Amino acid sequence: MTTLDLTGRTALVTGSTQGIGAAIAAGLARAGARVAVNGRSGASVAAAVDRLAAEGAGQLVAAPGDVTTQEGVDAVRAVVPHVDVLVNNLGVFEARPALEIDDDEWRRYFEVNVLSAVRLIRTYLPGMTAAGWGRVLSIASDSAVVIPAEMIHYGTSKTALLAVTRGFAKEAAGAGVTVNSVIAGPTRTGGVEDFVYSLVDRDLPWDDAQREFMRRYRPQSLIQRLIEPEEIANLVVYLASPLASATTGGALRVDGGYVDAILP
Ligand SMILES: NC(=O)c1ccc[n+]([C@@H]2O[C@H](COP(=O)([O-])OP(=O)(O)OC[C@H]3O[C@@H](n4cnc5c(N)ncnc54)[C@H](OP(=O)(O)O)[C@@H]3O)[C@@H](O)[C@H]2O)c1
Repeated sequence: MTTLDLTGRTALVTGSTQGIGAAIAAGLARAGARVAVNGRSGASVAAAVDRLAAEGAGQLVAAPGDVTTQEGVDAVRAVVPHVDVLVNNLGVFEARPALEIDDDEWRRYFEVNVLSAVRLIRTYLPGMTAAGWGRVLSIASDSAVVIPAEMIHYGTSKTALLAVTRGFAKEAAGAGVTVNSVIAGPTRTGGVEDFVYSLVDRDLPWDDAQREFMRRYRPQSLIQRLIEPEEIANLVVYLASPLASATTGGALRVDGGYVDAILP
C-alpha cells in the first residue's frame, strides 16, 4: 500500500534549527523518517534536536556543518553517509537596493542559495539512484518567479534553484528518484513578527496584525494571511512520501495563491 509513511528512510534537512527547516524536520520525523537536523553550530543543532524531541517529533540526529563549504558537507556526511530524502532548505534573504548589490554579495547568494544545494545533490544523488529510491526537494520562493525589486539577487538565486531542480531530475530519470522544488510564499518565521509590527498598529493582536499586514502590503495573497511553517512542511512531507512517486522535475507552490499565475 502506498502511504505517507517514511519509516526506514533517512532524511537530511539543511538549515533546520529553526523556521521552515525545523517544521520540515518535525514533519518528516512524524511521518516515520530518521531525520538529520542541520545548522552551522553543534550548539544550535543540539538545542533544536532537544526542542523538536520535546515536541514529540520522533527519530532525530544532530548533523551540524556549514553546508556552504565542502568541509561542512563532509561533517554532515560523516553522520549520515546515505540519505533517502534530501531537503535543500537553507537559504538567505535580505532587502538590498539592486544597484548596491556588489559582486561579492551576488557570489554569496549564489554560494549559499544555489551551490550548497548542488553540492549536496552531487553528494547524495548517486546513493539514491543506486538504491533505486530517493527524494530531492529544494525550497524555492515566490521570489523565484516574481523577482522582487528590493532583492533581485535573492530572486535570481531562487530562479536558478528551479533550473537546478529540473536539470537534476533529468539526471535521475528512470532511477526511482524524484527531484522537485517547493515554491514557498510569505511565511511566519523568525523576524517576521517584528517586521509585521513595524508596519502595522502594535496594539493589534497577532492574528489581526498579520491580516492587516497582508491586506496592505501583500494584497496578492489569496489566503490573506501569512503561511505557517507547518503548511510548507505538509507539502514537503507529501512530496517526500511514496504517494508522490510520479511527481518529478517540477516546481510546486505552497504560496497561499500569492503568485498570480496558473503555472509557476
Ligand atoms: N520565511 C519566508 O517567508 C520564506 C518565504 C519563501 C521561501 N523561504 C525559503 O525557505 C527557506 C527557509 O527560510 P526560513 O525563513 O525558515 O530561514 P531562517 O529562519 O532564516 O533559518 C535559517 C536556518 O538555516 C541555518 N543556516 C544558516 N546558514 C547555514 C549554513 N551555512 N549551513 C547550515 N545551516 C545554516 C540556520 O541555522 P543556524 O543559525 O543554527 O546555523 C537556520 O536553521 C529558505 O530557503 C528561504 O529562502 C522563506
